[in-house]
Parts: sequence; structure tokens; C-alpha cells
Amino acid sequence: MKRSALRAVAANVATTGVSLLRNGGRDMNKSEAVAFIRGNTELLSPPLTPEIILHLATESLPIWRKTEEELGEMNVPPPYWAFAWAGGQALARYVLDHPDLVSGKSVIDLGAGSGLAAIAAAKAGARSVLAIDIDPLAHAAIELNASTNGVTIGVSSQNVFEEPLPDTDVLLVGDLFYERDLAQRVLELIETADLRGSDVLVGDPRRSYFPVERFAQVTFYEVPVTRELEDSELKRTAVWRLAAPPAHSSSLRHDIVEAA
Ligand SMILES: C[S@@+](CC[C@H](N)C(=O)[O-])C[C@H]1O[C@@H](n2cnc3c(N)ncnc32)[C@H](O)[C@@H]1O
Repeated sequence: MKRSALRAVAANVATTGVSLLRNGGRDMNKSEAVAFIRGNTELLSPPLTPEIILHLATESLPIWRKTEEELGEMNVPPPYWAFAWAGGQALARYVLDHPDLVSGKSVIDLGAGSGLAAIAAAKAGARSVLAIDIDPLAHAAIELNASTNGVTIGVSSQNVFEEPLPDTDVLLVGDLFYERDLAQRVLELIETADLRGSDVLVGDPRRSYFPVERFAQVTFYEVPVTRELEDSELKRTAVWRLAAPPAHSSSLRHDIVEAA
């Protein structure tokens, strides 16, 4: 599955409000979702995080087609949850190697997918972890993956276009800059969280809409990926923190101060 194909359906992900385990033509109850995930994935460790095991697909198109068959609907969003994206892998590795960043703290993993970064935070000693993702199948996958790794993670179906984020000590954002509107919204959420005192860490291999000028690189990894998904075998992927804003771009800061 090429990124262009992913992007073509990403607008659907970004604008479709879905309730738990309903995603189109028919409802899928939780046990059906779990059975679907177990039946169409393998237990694998992402290359950068051998200490974490996830239910992952080895190819993208078969599981995407099966998702459409199972839900009785065409053009459903891609099963992002079935892959450990380069950004999420980098973020998870960084958190596992720097547990002080999350230990004893509340953590949100935004657009959590498989829950990889959320699981890394829980394993590193976070006090609470909330994984937010709009995709109902991702919820089942995150819960399954959390239990496989012996950690507890809360799950929220919040659509980032519709609500502000809950307050949190640490905000993790893995690979969410692949679609223009989503990227813009995610940047706004990151800036707001930063102003409210959250430590925001972003994992991103400079996707098409990653605003590199707004971030400072913390570290980088060469992340093994598949040619099917990424057209390469290694993806240089950085962990980033928000850079100090230019003095003149203070409108958001002004709004926050006014609202406080
Ligand atoms: C490319 S995946 C990244 C998953 C994970 N963070 C990782 O790095 O492996 C993007 C994720 O964002 C979620 N997402 C997309 N639009 C969203 C929205 N409007 N609200 C909440 N989650 C969204 C998708 O369902 C998907 O799981």
C-alpha cells in the first residue's frame, strides 16, 4: 500500500465520526473485533522495540480488503492499527530508553494506532496512559496489545477535529503528519498542549505535511520498514520537540492567556 493510497482515504479517517466498533455497513461487536484481529495478524515485535509484541499484519492490502468484507462497506480507512509506523517506533524506542520522561506521569498517545507508544509509556512506568484513536478496530487492537504486554491502557475514540485534548503531563504523537488537514489540527493541539505545560514528543520521518520549521530534533533512528508501505527498507525517523515560536506568532498564546 503506497502512501498515496493511504492519503486518499485519510480524509475519510479525518472526517468520519464513528462510535465504538461501528465503522460502516454493520456493527462489529468487541469479541468479533478481537477475533478479526487475531485471525488476520501475527504476534510480532516492531524492529526497533523487540521488548514489545503487537498484533501486526505482514501485508497491507489483504487485511484492508478483509476489513471491508467484515464491515460490509467499501472505502473504509486503512487498518493503520495493524502496522507499527516509523514515527511510533521511534517514539516508543525513545520513551523506553528514557523512562524518566513518563515515569509517574499521565500520558496521552494521540492517534495511537496499534498502541505502540502508549504501551512503551506504560512499560516505562507512566502513572496513567490514554490512547486516543478514531478507528474502532484500533481500540480493540490497543486493548489486545496492552494485555499481551501486561499493561493497562485507557482507550478513547475522540476525533481530534471535534474536541480539545484532556490535560496531560506528556503528549506522544506518532506519525500523524501524513494528511494536510490532520497535520494542521494536530499541530494546533500540540501547540495548545505545550502552552498548558505538557511535555510533547513527536515521532515523525518528515511525512509530507510535517512542519519541520516548527520542531527541533531530539534524536533520530534508522527504522527498518517495508517496501510495500514505504518504498524503502530504512526510514530515517526523528523524535522532535516543539521549537520556540517566533516572537511574532503569538495569536495562539494570546488566546490561551486570555482564556486562563
Ligand atoms: C499512521 S497511523 C499512526 C499510528 C501510531 N501512532 C504509530 O505511529 O504507529 C495514524 C493514526 O491516527 C488515527 N487518526 C487519524 N485521524 C484521526 C482523528 N481525526 N482523530 C483521532 N485519531 C485519528 C488513525 O486511525 C491511525 O490509527
